[in-house]
Amino acid sequence: MCGIFGYIGKDMPVASYVEGLSRLEYRGYDSCGIAAIKNGEFFIRKRQGKINQLKCELRDELNSQYPLAILHTRWATHGKPNQINSHPHFDCKKQISVVHNGIIENYLSLKEELIRQGHKFVSETDTEVIVHLIEKYYSGSLEDAVFAAVKKLSGSFALSVISTRTPDELIGVRKGSPLIIGLGRDGNFLASDIPAILPFTNKVIYLKDGELAILKKDEVKIFSFDKKPLGARIEKISIHPQDAEKKHYEHFMRKEIFEQPEVLRKIFSLYVTGNTIRFPQINLKNPFLKKVKNVFIAACGTAYHAGYIAKYFLEKYCDLDVEIDTSSEFRYRKINFHTGDLFITISQSGETADTLSAVREAKKKGVKVLSICNVLGSSLVKESDGLIFTYAGPEIGVASTKAYTAQIMALLLFCLHTAHIRGTLSRKSFCRMLKELGQIPRYQKEILGKEKEIKTIAKDFSRFGCFLFLGRGINFPSALEGALKLKEISYIPAEGYPAGEMKHGPIALIDEYRGVICIAPQDDLYDKMISNIQEIKARKGKILGIVNRTDTQASRLSDELIYIPGLKYQDFSPLLVAVALQLFAYHVAKNLGREIDQPRNLAKSVTVE
Ligand code: F6R
Repeated sequence: MCGIFGYIGKDMPVASYVEGLSRLEYRGYDSCGIAAIKNGEFFIRKRQGKINQLKCELRDELNSQYPLAILHTRWATHGKPNQINSHPHFDCKKQISVVHNGIIENYLSLKEELIRQGHKFVSETDTEVIVHLIEKYYSGSLEDAVFAAVKKLSGSFALSVISTRTPDELIGVRKGSPLIIGLGRDGNFLASDIPAILPFTNKVIYLKDGELAILKKDEVKIFSFDKKPLGARIEKISIHPQDAEKKHYEHFMRKEIFEQPEVLRKIFSLYVTGNTIRFPQINLKNPFLKKVKNVFIAACGTAYHAGYIAKYFLEKYCDLDVEIDTSSEFRYRKINFHTGDLFITISQSGETADTLSAVREAKKKGVKVLSICNVLGSSLVKESDGLIFTYAGPEIGVASTKAYTAQIMALLLFCLHTAHIRGTLSRKSFCRMLKELGQIPRYQKEILGKEKEIKTIAKDFSRFGCFLFLGRGINFPSALEGALKLKEISYIPAEGYPAGEMKHGPIALIDEYRGVICIAPQDDLYDKMISNIQEIKARKGKILGIVNRTDTQASRLSDELIYIPGLKYQDFSPLLVAVALQLFAYHVAKNLGREIDQPRNLAKSVTVE
């Protein structure tokens, strides 16, 4: 949520600054702005709307060079997404400028005090109090003023601060919201996330919570909030700049859908050798996994759905009691953990505020935390006891696709590994299941090859004003995820339901104007699912069946069909169903002319609670 980009060094063209910011646009796209300093003066531009609009406004200045600037792309929290509320914000004398990601919880009381002391506010944002506070404490040293201001703030914040009075420094602050430092050859960078610095450098320092960084052209110093100097931990990133680019695809979402077979192949090959599964960073000893009784899973959105699939698996194959909840609920529940319980959390970004809070609650109670995460330097990874990295690469489309199936693959491997250790799965079944899991990328490719047919079906179905996604057992979470994908990018109301629950209420919605997606692979619950589909058919719902090629019954009842390859272990079918439903949602949204990669009101990496 909100993207910050900053640089200090040799002159850099405005075009490069905008390029860095554009790579963070997935974090918010309500408004954006730049404040650059040259010859002791600010150059400022702000725009409501997307970075392209800012770029248009800057078209005559794209080649102008600046040695210092901060930029911001906003996902509005406090105050409407208009030009006045867009960042950067300034002090009364327009000598200090700040961009901010996060929420200042005590901003109202600070604002009232600052107004009483004569400060003039122009925006409705919480951010503006930060820059006035810095102004208040400024007495010749920007650093000292920032140290003093930060102590007064509560909430979460990543900040980037510059001043015309000290044009040789760029200050970054992190508490609760992500901020990284990129070390370049001609200067240094601040950014909310790795993709922004990829065109410039692969050397990075992940700032930790409670740290303040002072960047100069050729030096970076890091301090704790109480001014103790800290050592810098420089890491090399192996992501290629092109990994975060759209290439020939029209949308990041479609590119990321098509990357899935490769991502899953990579995960499988890195964790599986022959018939052995090894997770180098799991940090959970076999005797612990052998004895664990209760597993708690917390995650948000799509990651929660991946966790839901793992719940079915852990119960069925590992003989474990598993509870799952969304992180925002989990963190406020009174849960009686016991020694030896395991807490699993799943997150693409590793910066989701609710998930981090849930982890902190679990850790307070002494429970071991295992994270399934896609960002190595993220807060989640740093705070967890163990990690299974998902290797999906940068996911830029706001709607999560490849990160989801990567999470499922990682979780299924973890389940098989645990079942093996616990002796709850025979060696023969273990090997057979592993073999089939290794085939999943090939099956996913088969589904991707049917895009044309799915597109035609999506075109027809995009006329419906409401959708129901139905599944049973391990494909109930697939139904939840299918509905989430559709509603977030097409804005059509859609609900995911366990098919057996229809008759307890939602069936009242069914008539000839509803699209009903029935996920019906030939698994143990197939016969039950057929009865549920009959009930929809009898009420004239328009049915899209997600079925196996050998299917006869669901196919007869459906108006349209998407075939997925049949599996010996149908419990892996969510990895195939996901691809079909992602393509379906993508083409419905495309047909309706929606902004697929940047759906309204959303942003990736939800760093506020
Ligand atoms: C949906 C989506 C979100 C995220 C959720 C959690 O397509 O992307 O629902 O899954 O915000 O984000 P992470 O995985 O970064 O914790």
